[in-house]
Amino acid sequence: MGLTGLKVSCDEGACGACTVIKDGHAVLSCMTLACEAGGSDVLTIEGLDDNDPVIKAFAEQCEPGYGTAMQCGYCTPGFVMASKALLDENPSPSMKQIKDKLSGNICRCGTYPAVAKAVLSAAELRKNDGVIIKEEFKPKISRNYIGTYRPKDDGLEKASGQAHYLDDLFLKRNFPDMLFAKLLRCPYPHARIKQIDTTEAEKLPGVKTILTYKDPDVLAFKPTNASWTGLDTRHYERMDWPNYQDRQVLSDTGRWVGDEIGAIVAAESYDIADEALKLLKIEWEVLPFALDPEKAMQPEAPIIHPNINPEGNILPGGGFCGPDVFVDRGDVATAFAEADEVAEVTSKHHNAEHGVLDTRGCCVLWEGDRLICWTNYYQGDQTRMHLANMFNIPLNKVRICIPYIGGSFGRGNTGDQPFLLITALLSKRVGCPVKFKHTRREDFHDTRNALTWTIKMGAKKDGTINSMSFYGIINSGAYADSTMAALKHIPGIEMSECQLAHIPNLRMEGYAVYTNIIPGSCMRGIGNNQINLAIGLAVDVMAEKLKIDPIELTIKNFGHEWETLPDKSLEACLRTGAQKIGWEDRHGPGETKGSKKRGIGFSFNMGWHTGWQEVARGHVQLGVKLNPDMSVILEAPMAETGVGSNSCAVFACAEALDFLNIKPKDIHWVSIVDTDTGYKDMVQTDSAVSYLHAELMPKVAARLKKKLLELSAKHLDTSADKIDIRDACVYFKNDPEKKHRIKDILWDGDLVPVLITVSELMPGEMTGVPFGATFADVEVDTETGKVEIVKLVVVSDCGTVMYAPGAEGQQIGGQCMGVGETLTEEIIYDDATGIPLNFNWIDYKIPTMADFPEVEPILLEVWKGAGEYGACGIGEGVTTCTARSIANAIYNATGVRMDEIPFKPERVLSALSVVVQ
Ligand code: FES
Ligand code: FES
Repeated sequence: MGLTGLKVSCDEGACGACTVIKDGHAVLSCMTLACEAGGSDVLTIEGLDDNDPVIKAFAEQCEPGYGTAMQCGYCTPGFVMASKALLDENPSPSMKQIKDKLSGNICRCGTYPAVAKAVLSAAELRKNDGVIIKEEFKPKISRNYIGTYRPKDDGLEKASGQAHYLDDLFLKRNFPDMLFAKLLRCPYPHARIKQIDTTEAEKLPGVKTILTYKDPDVLAFKPTNASWTGLDTRHYERMDWPNYQDRQVLSDTGRWVGDEIGAIVAAESYDIADEALKLLKIEWEVLPFALDPEKAMQPEAPIIHPNINPEGNILPGGGFCGPDVFVDRGDVATAFAEADEVAEVTSKHHNAEHGVLDTRGCCVLWEGDRLICWTNYYQGDQTRMHLANMFNIPLNKVRICIPYIGGSFGRGNTGDQPFLLITALLSKRVGCPVKFKHTRREDFHDTRNALTWTIKMGAKKDGTINSMSFYGIINSGAYADSTMAALKHIPGIEMSECQLAHIPNLRMEGYAVYTNIIPGSCMRGIGNNQINLAIGLAVDVMAEKLKIDPIELTIKNFGHEWETLPDKSLEACLRTGAQKIGWEDRHGPGETKGSKKRGIGFSFNMGWHTGWQEVARGHVQLGVKLNPDMSVILEAPMAETGVGSNSCAVFACAEALDFLNIKPKDIHWVSIVDTDTGYKDMVQTDSAVSYLHAELMPKVAARLKKKLLELSAKHLDTSADKIDIRDACVYFKNDPEKKHRIKDILWDGDLVPVLITVSELMPGEMTGVPFGATFADVEVDTETGKVEIVKLVVVSDCGTVMYAPGAEGQQIGGQCMGVGETLTEEIIYDDATGIPLNFNWIDYKIPTMADFPEVEPILLEVWKGAGEYGACGIGEGVTTCTARSIANAIYNATGVRMDEIPFKPERVLSALSVVVQ
């Protein structure tokens, strides 16, 4: 029917993205047979007007303290329909009723508080007693748009279901000859295909072609490496991590259950392609496997990538990734001996899944010798380089387009996506468009790395930490992907040179190990989440040994502004959070009576950007077109994954073009990344895009003004130095009353837009380390082991807050991941078979609205970096402290230390019972 509003994300009744209203009740369309709907009234989001109060309330939510009611927007139409059904049935719902009714819908961006607020706004129940009026962020410098509360730029488009994602663009009705591709997945944790016979599968009606690992064009693909592109765009010959080229497109060997290997089918439908895969006759050589990294390090373990390391499963060090001991300064052994107290702790972080609603995919077609690829991957320029290098064709023969993306959270890099290449090859072979899209289960494709850190910390009686050592073992899973970034790059560069820069004796040692599980990969807060779990624990343990408040110990040791103690940013974050959570009233560990025990804890992290990372991205590019009617087209290419960078770009553009009276509504931001425009898109990694484009806007404005002055001078028969522009009018400096509207001058011209293009490197100086902190208030039921989070306070120093509801939305939304990883989410394997048991959203528990705690977001502007705004990304930093703040709060509540997440009831009970014994 061509309706694109509602989405299919899980296809098994777990996410609510497909909600429609049938005969007045919200139903999941993926769980409703067409015959069941016969004779029913079915209302989809397309049946609602843009002025529908529910759509409006979602689109316009920007009330302080709640964030926006959508980020990526993929879940939003489902929430809108579920909310409408609720309000139709109960026009005055309480907060509890809203939570109950909407808890079947998943928002991985974590917009739950804002969604609830939007429902209440729609019901005109703003004063409902379930709602807390929250404190408004007050910017240090008052500006027209930057730092203000206003609706999201794409709010209406997303709330009404009009925003188009990959699936919406590639409907069979628009591309009747489109084929659908399915990859063979390895059913064993480790196995090799000895023989494959495609005869029966090829005979299946609707099957167009099958490629296998024996195909010469497949064999011609060079081996790749998942992270060959970092922040910038890299050529194959200059890829990041060149010593881990462990991915072969359509390999004959599978290294985890689900590995995409051996064969790909193009057919008239996914069902037919699936059926064809079942008809393949495959002779497998099943190989021994290892799931646990410590076992995989043993000499007798099966070797998983003999071409990378023929001796064992430890990824070779050296080169770009550094040796196994990757930081070694001072003399830690002597310093520990001289310390008054030494604390040693171990923390275990598990594999957590991105849980993106918009499963990954692409649609590829060839126009003659030009490859056109639409994808929901967030790297346009890098994907173009990747495909051009691998097909050995010029860059101008590859066009990458990226529409709205339903979430990302750092999901993978182009190099680990053989499906892009193999779908392109299929399309070339069959001569028509081919679409590839993961199902929910297939989208369990890569995760955060499981990583165990052991930290030793030495300190003097006065609280001065004189030494630290780190020993890490990271589970790479089946491929290296971004493992080394999590193990060595983040701790070795970002931490040792920033947060730990002043620790005189520091040693870091780490081992990355291949195993036969899902690969570890790039994910929001990469590396920081894991190491912060350990550092936060070590600080808490050391503070207890020294009998010093852990907040004071933290400020004394970790706050610094490039050698100056104490740092205002860290101190401000900690003092503000402490006051909000009621730190002063904190009791000693396990001191509460009764079976339900309350406690509070905190953790801290340095913020997510400092000067040199921005330089590593290369040039930032954007273009502004001023039309003769004074409307603006803004080309600030970035994949819109939901983080609000597009709103920041539009508001920063309006801010800079204030001299022309340009408002955000006058600016059209081009929402599709298209490499044919010639602009490099900003890669949505490292939470930097929200301010990088904004940094260029004043330069755009200055150039535009210069050009307009030249045009006006010609038009007015004067010289440019005699006139100026204010309020969209040119005036004579010697006679300010003599003025002419810019619009009239342009309108009298040739009606050609005025074009400005900027391409610049960002300021490179290191300007400081902004911080963030999270405080948790928890209640532990010592009879059931259930941990209830009563409240989280998330404090972030942003430098400059670019878009207040967006930043608060990140602070709140980051807790959806943080809470999930800490309490419920975990991939579980059957040890005997190596088969994962919960690659679905029924058993893999992502928090819903019912599980979501109260979150108080606090934005600060203490630190300021280089440039116009000197802002700092917070989207990742906000996830890095949740686990440790909860762990420390559990200790404060019960007196029992827990070091391994997730803190599921059985694990909590077991820890409590050990202490009782
Ligand atoms: S797609 Fe229907 S509930 Fe997830
Ligand atoms: S806005 Fe809900 S999943 Fe992104």
